[in-house]
Amino acid sequence: MDGNGRWAKKRLLPRFIGHQKGLNAVKRVVSHCASIGVESLTLFAFSTENWRRPEEEVSKLMSLFLKALQREVSKLDENNVRLQIIGDRSAFSEEIQSNIALAESKTSSNSGLVLNIAANYGGRWDIVEAVKKWQKAHPENSIEQLDEYALNDYLCLAGLPEPDLLIRTGGEQRISNFLIWQMAYTEFYFSDVLWPDFDEAALDKAIQSFSMRQRRFGKTGEQITAC
Ligand code: FPP
Repeated sequence: MDGNGRWAKKRLLPRFIGHQKGLNAVKRVVSHCASIGVESLTLFAFSTENWRRPEEEVSKLMSLFLKALQREVSKLDENNVRLQIIGDRSAFSEEIQSNIALAESKTSSNSGLVLNIAANYGGRWDIVEAVKKWQKAHPENSIEQLDEYALNDYLCLAGLPEPDLLIRTGGEQRISNFLIWQMAYTEFYFSDVLWPDFDEAALDKAIQSFSMRQRRFGKTGEQITAC
């Protein structure tokens, strides 16, 4: 969700207003995904590297995160959305951590869209944590027994399909330590739209582009068309 800061700067507004508008875009996109039948949506809200931002911006982002948890969860629940926060939550305040736990348990039995909010998340962290969890769960195993399939069960998105499509807004063309394991075969789509302006039409355009692609998963184009 890139471009909040630039959106605000273009209007001579503080960066934080861009993040507030970014939250409106989150609501639009979540609601649209739920209505068109997307199974799982993961939004990168705060990376392990974002702590390096000015203290005031980090603090305002934390307040926004808390407010969103307190105000938006009932609506998510009404819309059958299951909310999961992925990332190292131990760095957040007690208040945020308890609101995360509440939000997750309130929506845990919902069967519609799975909404993963990546907060204090990093793809490398996810992989290292998964290895540690695997080892803890299988103390009798040697590291030689660890393989790709075994590790999958210990990653943050365990049990969910690998992402079909990555959308990065704001004109940047990097993965920035997002779901680096899970995106081995993901289709990438880069949009110049700044995140606060991202709307239903922009999402439909990305999905339309995705639907035109031939996904080969290592096979040849001929093999795919023969199926
Ligand atoms: C990146 O844009 C955006 C963030 C680091 C924060 C994302 C937060 C939100 C969209 C709002 C809150 C969301 C939730 C789920 C509570 P940037 O600030 O790097 O923009 P720039 O590249 O234009 O500077």
